[in-house]
Amino acid sequence: MFWNRLFATKTLEMLDAEAKGENRLKRVLGPIGLTSLGVGAIIGAGIFVITGRVAANDAGPAVLLSFMVAGIACALAAFCYAEFASMAPVAGSAYTYAYATIGELLAWIIGWDLILEYAMSAATVAAVWSNYLNELLGALGLWKVPDYLCSDPFSNPDAWFNLPAVLILLAVTTVLVIGIRESAASNTALVLLKLFVVVFVILMGIGYVKSSNWFGIPAEGRKQTEQLLIPKLAHEHVDLERDLMKKAEQWSKKFVDKPVDSVTAHPTGGPDKTLVRAVPTKPLSEEAKKDEKLAKKEEAKAAHEAAERAKKRVTMLGDQAMATFISGLAADYKKRVADGETENEKTTEHWTMMLERYKDKHPKTAEDKEIVASILADARKEAPKKAAENWGMIGQLGINTKLAVIDDGTRNNFMPYGFSGIMVGAALVFFAFIGFDSISTHSEEAVKPMRDVPFGIMASLGICTVLYILVAGVITGMVSYYDIDVKAAIASAFRIQAENTGSTVLKYAGALIAAGALAGMTSVLLITFLSQARIFLAMARDGLMPQNIFGAVHDKFKTPHISTMLTGAFMSVVAAFTPIAKLEEMVNIGTLFAFTVVCAAVLILRIKRPEAPRPFRCPLVYFVAPAGIIVNVTLMFFLPADTWWRLVIWLGIGMVIYFSFGFRHSVMRHVEAGERLPPSEPLPPGPTSWPEAGIQHPHPPT
Ligand code: ALA
Repeated sequence: MFWNRLFATKTLEMLDAEAKGENRLKRVLGPIGLTSLGVGAIIGAGIFVITGRVAANDAGPAVLLSFMVAGIACALAAFCYAEFASMAPVAGSAYTYAYATIGELLAWIIGWDLILEYAMSAATVAAVWSNYLNELLGALGLWKVPDYLCSDPFSNPDAWFNLPAVLILLAVTTVLVIGIRESAASNTALVLLKLFVVVFVILMGIGYVKSSNWFGIPAEGRKQTEQLLIPKLAHEHVDLERDLMKKAEQWSKKFVDKPVDSVTAHPTGGPDKTLVRAVPTKPLSEEAKKDEKLAKKEEAKAAHEAAERAKKRVTMLGDQAMATFISGLAADYKKRVADGETENEKTTEHWTMMLERYKDKHPKTAEDKEIVASILADARKEAPKKAAENWGMIGQLGINTKLAVIDDGTRNNFMPYGFSGIMVGAALVFFAFIGFDSISTHSEEAVKPMRDVPFGIMASLGICTVLYILVAGVITGMVSYYDIDVKAAIASAFRIQAENTGSTVLKYAGALIAAGALAGMTSVLLITFLSQARIFLAMARDGLMPQNIFGAVHDKFKTPHISTMLTGAFMSVVAAFTPIAKLEEMVNIGTLFAFTVVCAAVLILRIKRPEAPRPFRCPLVYFVAPAGIIVNVTLMFFLPADTWWRLVIWLGIGMVIYFSFGFRHSVMRHVEAGERLPPSEPLPPGPTSWPEAGIQHPHPPT
C-alpha cells in the first residue's frame, strides 16, 4: 500500500484533462516564439566563459569535439523530450513526464533535481556575469568593480562576495515580479543582440584563426597537471606568509607595544625576516587615534593594499615556479634529443618559444628559489591525485588507470589531453546546452504544442550546436589554448588581437562582445527564472509543494511573486558566496540526471502505453532512448566525485521535504484514497505567460 502510494502515476488522460482545464496558462507561443525562447535560454555563460576554461585546462583545441559529444547527449535527450512534450503539453517538463511514468516519488526527485538545473544555473550565470561586466567596463576605459567584490570568497580568498551577481539577480527578480509587459520585448532584443554577437565573433574572428593554434603545440608540450596546480599552491604559500605577518604584528603589538607598518614592512608583501622581526614604525598620531572612523578607513585601505600586494606576489611566485618547471621540461627534451631518443621540429620550436617566454621570470634571490622549489615539490606530490580527479568519478573508482592507455593512444596536437580531456570537457561544456528543455516547461503556453514544441526544441538545439562548434573553433584558432583568458575567453581573444595588431576596430569589438555576453546571460536568467516558476507551479498544483507559496499569484501584477522572490533571494546568496566551478558541476550533474530520466520515461511509456497518441514520435526510440541514457550517464561519470556526493546530499534533503510535506499533501494521494479531489481552493492561474509580442497576464482566478 505504502509502495503503491509512492509509485502512483498520473495517467495521460489526467494530463490531457489538466491541459484542457480552466486556469491554465494562456496559449500564445508559436514556433518562432518557442525557438527564440530556447535560444534565449541556451546561449549564455557556457559559450562565453566555460568554453575558454575547458579549452585552457581540460581539452585544448579539442574542446570543439567536447561540444560535439555534449551536443549528441542533448540531441538524444531532446528527441525524448519532444515526444513527451507533444503527448503531455502541460507545464512541469521532466517532472510531469516522470509523474506519468515512474510515479510520484521519482517525479518529486526529478522536480527537486530540476532546481539544480534552473535555479542553480541562474546563480552560476549570475556569478560569471561579473567577469564580462568588468571586461565591458575595461574596454570602455571605465572604472572596474574591484576584485574583492567580484568573486566568491572560496574562489578568491581575498574576495568578500560577488556584488554584480547579486545586483543582476535582484534586477531580474524585480522585472519578473512586476511582470512588466515590456520585458518580453526586451528579451527578444537581448536574444537578437546575443545572436548578432555570436555570428559577429564567428565572422570577424575567422580571419584571425591560425592553424598553428590548433595543431602547432605538440601534445607533449600540453599543460602538465603540476602546471595547473601551481597557481593554487602559490596562493596557499602567500596565504601562509600573510598569516605569518599577522602573527608578527600581534606579537609586536603585544610585546613591543608599537604597531607594525604592514605596508612598508616588505615591498613585495612577502614574508621575510623583516616581517618576522616586525619592524616597528611611527605610531599613529594622537589626533588620528581619536578619530576612530579615520583609523578604520586607514585600516581598510591598508588591508586592501596588502591584498593587492599579495595578489601580485601570487602572480610573481606563480610565474617563477612556471619558469622553473618549463625549464626542467625543456632540459629533459634536450637531453632526449641529445640521446637520440626523439627529435621533432615543432616540439623544438615549442620549447624554444616557451623558454623565451619565461626567460625573465626565473626566481632571482636564494629565498625565492627556495620557495619555488617547495611549491614545485608540493605540485609533484599532489599531481597524481589531481590527475585522477581530472577523470571525475571514473578516477575515484580507479577505472582511469585502465583507460589511460586510450588517452595515450588518442593524444595528438589537436587533442593534447586525449580521450579523457574530450569527455571531461564535454561534461563541463554541457552547461552551455542547458536550457533547450525550458521550452517544454512552456508547453502549456504553446498554441500548437504537439507540433511546435518538438520543433522549438530541435530547432533551438540545432542552431546553438552549430554556433557553439563554430565559436569554439574560432576562439581556439585565434588564441593558443595556453594563452586563453579563462575568465572571459571570447572578449579577451579580441582584446589580445587588438593589443597585438593595434587595431581600434578589434578593441571596440571586445566591448561589443562583452555587451552581447551580458545581454545573453541576462536573457538566460530571465527565462531560467520563468521556467523554474513553472515547475514550482506544476508541483504546487499537485500538492507536493505549498500552494500558498509556489502557486500564489500577486493580486495586481498577476505574477508568481512569492515563488520568484524566494528563488531570487536564495540564488543571490548562492551566487554571492559559492565557488562557481562547483556550482556549475552541480548544475550539470543535476541536468544530466534529469535527461537520463526523461529518456527512460519515454521508453517506459512506449512499453506501458503503446497505443497512446504520439503527435511527435521519437525516431528509432529503442536506440535513441537507451543511447541517451548511456551517453548522459557516461558524462555524469566524468564529473568529480564530490559533485556526486553533493547530488546525493541534495536529493537526500529533497526526500526529507517530500516525506514531511508532499507525501501528505499530494493531490494524487487523495484521488487514490477515493476522496473528493482537493484542492478546495481554485487552482491559481499560471505565472506570467510569454507571448511573442509581449508578456501578458493569464486569466484571473475563477
Ligand atoms: N546554457 C546556459 C548558459 O550557458 C545555462 O548560460
